[in-house]
Amino acid sequence: MDKKTMYKLTYGLFVLTSASEGKDCGCIINTAGQVTSEPNRISITVNKSNFTHDLVKESGKFNISILSEAASFDTFKHFGF
Ligand SMILES: Cc1cc2nc3c(=O)[nH]c(=O)nc-3n(C[C@H](O)[C@H](O)[C@H](O)COP(=O)(O)O)c2cc1C
Repeated sequence: MDKKTMYKLTYGLFVLTSASEGKDCGCIINTAGQVTSEPNRISITVNKSNFTHDLVKESGKFNISILSEAASFDTFKHFGF
């Protein structure tokens, strides 16, 4: 397989946030997407080493904020690294 094909995949950018027991956290993900409409379901993929993963697991809840192309690099610096 030509790995350069992967560069042609399209995706959005999102801030995944969650909270549990007084802790809150968020991280940038590019892996949110709608997988079915009936029932309406989305999927997210978050690395187990991300702190946000732990809060999603603890609370069973998360929020997705959809970033526009106007999102500043500061947003990525804050949530993405
Ligand atoms: C453009 C971009 C896309 C990213 N996509 C994902 C993703 O889909 N899943 C994921 O687990 N981390 C993704 N990351 C990495 C996390 O945002 C990053 O590791 C973050 O610092 C984790 O924060 P936390 O440990 O506070 O949760 C992405 C980062 C960037 C800059």
